[in-house]
Amino acid sequence: MVLDSKQSVSVGIFLLELDDALMAQASSLWEMLDAEEIEKANRRLKEKDRVQYAAAHALLRYALFAWTSVPGGEWRFARSETGRPRVTNAGFESLSFSLSHTDGLVGCALAENCGLGFDLEWLERPTLSDGVKALVFSDDELAELHPLQPREAALYALQLWTLKEAFFKAMGTGLKGDLRAASFHLGGIPHPSSIAHAWRFQTLRPTAHHCGALCCSLDPSVQMHVVTRDELRASFSRSPCAPVDRSFQARSST
Ligand SMILES: CC(C)(COP(=O)(O)OP(=O)(O)OC[C@H]1O[C@@H](n2cnc3c(N)ncnc32)[C@H](O)[C@@H]1OP(=O)(O)O)[C@@H](O)C(=O)NCCC(=O)NCCS
Repeated sequence: MVLDSKQSVSVGIFLLELDDALMAQASSLWEMLDAEEIEKANRRLKEKDRVQYAAAHALLRYALFAWTSVPGGEWRFARSETGRPRVTNAGFESLSFSLSHTDGLVGCALAENCGLGFDLEWLERPTLSDGVKALVFSDDELAELHPLQPREAALYALQLWTLKEAFFKAMGTGLKGDLRAASFHLGGIPHPSSIAHAWRFQTLRPTAHHCGALCCSLDPSVQMHVVTRDELRASFSRSPCAPVDRSFQARSST
């Protein structure tokens, strides 16, 4: 893929924190999902994972509404053979989104006319074993991680992981790709030999307990919006013709 370095794109990142208050009132999330989403959420064994899935998909529908003014309940989805989701609503063929759920936080990125991948991780998740690191990280990445103190190395390993996941989501392959071939410096810039070298990346620290990464086929200008429970609920109780409140874009871009 040949990229025009002057081209940029506006990317909306929508985040919803799964705090105690949201978890306690999670039942209202189910009203925002379609039958297939409810069925998929219910396949998860743990209540925490069911709520996480429901919150991610309610947030996705909110984000699509906020971005396009099409009400959350009107969106329809399909998946590629490798599992990459997309919207199927007529007229929105150029809209891409990428979804991520992790402990305590769900998020999605949205943009038009560009490839997109987005990933979030909880910083307290168990550290990767040496065996997993050898499968996941390139020799260059392992060399950069090696001199770091254990806590610092664990944090950077997670950040590298989000960069890889974001890239493989943008490619649509998920983690079936060769993880070592997508190789990054600790700052998030792909190594020159990396298969990800033609893409743009941003590392993110959306909360004190989470890191994330965005992968984009154009230079992203990111508008981050933390969605509240009330906004989520209100967007689903509005009438379908209600005007969209795009003021979040002004708030979040400052
Ligand atoms: C994609 C993948 C990396 C997600 O990793 P994860 O850390 O477990 O989860 P995250 O929360 O960060 O991301 C999950 C989301 O990624 C998206 N996703 C799944 N497969 C994807 C793909 N091939 N390309 C892009 N995005 C994908 C989905 O929206 C998914 O959320 P959903 O199932 O609620 O819709 C991982 O599931 C994977 O490698 N899958 C490989 C493909 C596969 O096995 N597919 C089986 C389903 S057909």
